[in-house]
Order: sequence, then structure tokens, then C-alpha cells
Amino acid sequence: MTRDVKVQRGSTLRCKGWKQEAILRMLENNLENAEIPEKLIIYGGTGKAARNWKCYDAIVSALTNLGHDETLLIQSGKPVAIFQTWSTAPRVLIANSNLVPHWSTWEKFRQLEQLGLTMYGQMTAGSWCYIGTQGIIQGTYETFAACARKHFKSDLRGKIVLTGGLGGMGGAQPLAVTMNHGVCLAVECDEKRIDRRINAGFCDKKETDIDKAVDLVTQARDEKTPLSVGVLGNCASIMPELVKDGFRPDVVTDQTSAHDELNGYVPADYYGRSLKQANELRTKNPKKYIQQSMESMKQHCKALLDFQKKGSIVFDYGNNLRGQALKAGLKNAFEYPGFVPAYIRPMFCVGRGPFRWLALTGNPEDILKTDKAALKMFPEDIVLTNWISLAEKHLPWEGLPARVCWLGYGERAQFALIINKMVREKEIGPIAITRDHLDSGSVASPYRETESMRDKSDAIADWPLLNALLNCAAGADSVQIHNGGGVGIGLSTHAGMVVVCDGTKETDERIKRVFTTDPGIGVARHADAGYKESIDLVKKTDIRIPMIKK
Ligand SMILES: NC(=O)c1ccc[n+]([C@@H]2O[C@H](COP(=O)([O-])OP(=O)(O)OC[C@H]3O[C@@H](n4cnc5c(N)ncnc54)[C@H](O)[C@@H]3O)[C@@H](O)[C@H]2O)c1
Repeated sequence: MTRDVKVQRGSTLRCKGWKQEAILRMLENNLENAEIPEKLIIYGGTGKAARNWKCYDAIVSALTNLGHDETLLIQSGKPVAIFQTWSTAPRVLIANSNLVPHWSTWEKFRQLEQLGLTMYGQMTAGSWCYIGTQGIIQGTYETFAACARKHFKSDLRGKIVLTGGLGGMGGAQPLAVTMNHGVCLAVECDEKRIDRRINAGFCDKKETDIDKAVDLVTQARDEKTPLSVGVLGNCASIMPELVKDGFRPDVVTDQTSAHDELNGYVPADYYGRSLKQANELRTKNPKKYIQQSMESMKQHCKALLDFQKKGSIVFDYGNNLRGQALKAGLKNAFEYPGFVPAYIRPMFCVGRGPFRWLALTGNPEDILKTDKAALKMFPEDIVLTNWISLAEKHLPWEGLPARVCWLGYGERAQFALIINKMVREKEIGPIAITRDHLDSGSVASPYRETESMRDKSDAIADWPLLNALLNCAAGADSVQIHNGGGVGIGLSTHAGMVVVCDGTKETDERIKRVFTTDPGIGVARHADAGYKESIDLVKKTDIRIPMIKK
């Protein structure tokens, strides 16, 4: 069924209040920004917003009629119950893709999905917190900036970043590289995705010939001019060829949908017109497709290791390419690091993570006014002030206007209170504040967010569950628990949340609690793992940890 879902803009409510209306608009916003809207697929392989269209309609109807003291329960994209709770309790609770650990494999998941019992929620797809490619762009910008500072002592000027995948998340890479003044060559097998990124302003040029693309980026590197090129091709074929041909990029990474060998990654040699054949093989002979996909990921990952041997900086960008290659028999797949231990962990230690907000009436002015407020509140934060001016200059609005800024413990509550005050004083319309599940205290993912934890607690999944429980207790408006986002079923447990700023004093109280507990548990998680920055922060602030003496 084809549907063209667009977010309702303006201040007319279809629901009983802004809390419910906000959640409904966020669901619609997911669809408006979806990679494959007709299949309810938002991003990240098959990350969906609802199990099917019947469930989608039932969710919309449930939200429209939901009372101020009622809570709607979503089980893997299906609305399954509404209970009376408290007016201060969450209006929506979501659990997506969760399986009992022993059965938590793609194989079992797919069997259950075929029976219509579950769906893959990725991170922000099934939790209705996706804000388009812009949602990931600051994280991607920060990661490349941290990479440049660590390895090149500056930005990426005169450096080439070679990567793969221009999907919902991966599509942020070209712009994030050029924002860091570098040159990006991104290999993508689906021409439509390249066109989409170019139309949205995330990528500069398209090439269908790899040699021409290499010439273009080499020239831009030599001239030290920022440039991004999306080249049509398949990473599993092109990456090994580029190694052999002596191409030497400065940085190599990947954001193809490697976490899903059947419905995400496309095996070697299929690209452009032959993608149709890959899709046929996927349906007719999934076993053969998976075999080819796994073998291709092995070749792809091996090429990245070869680039590393030849001197490129190589890091995994959170899609489990290394894990898949290891499964396919590449024993040294993990010889290059993941991006979290390499660049992001120090930020997680102080509760710094992807704080995001959306203008619910659809007015971009609201975001520009909050930008000003952020610049006034955090003038010393060079990364943040740089980011806001870059974002205003380069980022297109996608769906509801939104902004993302990485903020730390203390800062999130402080800034959220200002936003709610601006709503109260009618300076701006209502705002929903949310974040990626990829955050300080809300994920257990040993191949990504919790890779190489200091105390070896990588696979301990209690923290994201406590995070979700705590955010319910603290008064978030929606709380979600998922399995498998980013890296695939069985490999991660993570949680998300939303607080709707309707300008009321009651929301001030929710904000004070949720935006303290949410990053606070991230600090506690890292203090527990023995990170000094976190322990020092605990000693300096009001975070109380029974086993740490102040
Ligand atoms: N690092 C992060 O912060 C982060 C965040 C979210 C998601 N992810 C992970 O990154 C990956 C990409 O996410 P997305 O939302 O962009 O997914 P997506 O499914 O929207 O896009 C993936 C893209 O990769 C392309 N592709 C697949 N196989 C290919 C191949 N062999 N060669 C070239 N292109 C190929 C597809 O055509 C598609 O355009 C996923 O595995 C996701 O879980 C990482």
C-alpha cells in the first residue's frame, strides 16, 4: 500500500493535549523522513515505525483518543493496550524487537517477524524519534572532528575520507566531512540514495565511474578544497580494487547496513541496475543471499584492514561490519577500533550526548530562536557554537524543523528549562526534546557503544534497562526499550525517551528530573566502570553513588 504521510503542522490539535499530539507528530515525522515509507521503513536497513499499516492506523487512533492519565503500550510496532496510570506517567511506553536472550538471533527474529509477531525497531525508527539525516549529522561531524584532532592535529583539510553507504544515517557522512573541510568519497550501490543526498544538500556530486571519482577527490585533496562525491558501486568489489590500485585515503570507515546480512547489506557486484537481481535473490533464495552477503562483508572488512596496513586511519562506524566478517571467518576483523572507544567515550563519561529538539508546529523560526538561546547559554563551548553556525549554514530542514547539540550532565536540564520557558512565554511553539539511543547511559552494545569498557562490562545490559525505568519514574512522556539497534538482533540493548515542552510548570518539574536522571545514569555507568572523568564529576556534583565517597 502506498501512503504519503506528512506531519500535521500548525497549532490545531487532533489529540486531547500537546503531549499526545507531539508523540503523534513525531510518528508522522518518522514517516515523512522515511527511506522506504511505503514499507514503514524509516532507516537503518529495516528499522520500522509500525508493524504494518493496520497497526499504524490503530496507533494514530489510540493517540488521538488517549486521555491525560492513560498510557498506551506498543509491542514491536503494534498498539496492544491502554491502561489508566497517572497524569505524570509516560503517555506511551514502547518495547521493540526484544527476545529472550537465548533466542535473540536474526534467524529466530525473522521466523517471528514472518509470523507477524514482531518488527525491527532500530533505534529511533520504532521509538518515533527519528529526525532525518540531520539527527546523526552532529554525531558524525563530532566523530570526524575528534578523528582529525587525534590523528592530524587539525581539521580534515587536504585529507580524503573513504566510506560506504549513503542511507538514512550514512548519508550524513559527506556533509560531516566537508564541514570539517575534508574530501569525502562515499561508495553507494543504490543510485536513488545518492540522488536523495544530493537533493537534500548532504552530498556535492554523483559519479558512476570509480576512476573519475578518484580523480575528482584526489584533485580536491591536492587543492585542499572541501568536496564530497557519491560514487555508484558496491563496497565489497570497489574497496579491494582501490587497495590494489594504490589509492591511499587518509581515513577509511563504513556505514553500509552491515548489521543485517539479508535485508541490509548488498553482496558484491550488485549495484545500480543489477540491484533488481539482488532483490530477486533475496526473496527467492534468502540462504544463498546470506552466504554471498557474509562472504562479501569478509572481503569488504579485509580491504579496510589492508588500508590500515598501508597507513590509513581506519575505524568501524557502528554497523557491525567487523562482527559479520569475524562470523564469516576473518579472524583479525577486530584489528581496527570502533568509533566509540576511539573518539566518543570521553564525552560519554561526562554524560555528554545527542540532545535533540523538534519544533512541533513546523516553524523553523522556533529552532533558530532556540539556537540563539543555546549560543547565549554556552558561549564558552567552542564545539557547540561552531556546530550551531555550521548547522544554520549547511543543514536543510527535513520534516519538522529540529536541532541536535551534544550537551553534558547539568547542561541538558539547564537548556531544557530555558526551552520550556520560551514556550511558556509564547516566544516559540511547543517543542519535543529527545535523543538518539546512542548515548552515555542508555546502551549496552559490545561492538559499539560499550566496546572495550575499562572494567570489561561491555555485555552488561542492566544499565539501559535501568535508564528506561528511571526515566519513567522521573516523568518522561514516552520511554522505549529496544533490542538490536545499530549492530543487529541480539547484539545490543538500548533505551530512548521524549519530554514534551508545553510550557507548563509541571513540565519544568519533569525536565528537572528527566534531564538529570538521563545523563546522570550515563555518568554513574562510567563511574562504575572506573573512568576517572566520571568519578571526578560525581565528586563535584549532586550525583549520589552509594559506593563512591565524596
Ligand atoms: N554510527 C552511528 O552512529 C550509527 C547510527 C545509526 C545507525 N548506524 C548503522 O549504520 C548503518 C547504516 O545506517 P543507515 O541508517 O544509513 O542504513 P540504510 O539502510 O538507510 O542505508 C544503508 C545504505 O547502504 C547501502 N549499501 C548496502 N550494502 C552496500 C554495499 N555492499 N556497497 C555499497 N552500498 C551498500 C544501501 O544501498 C543503503 O543506501 C547501519 O548498520 C546502522 O545500524 C550507525
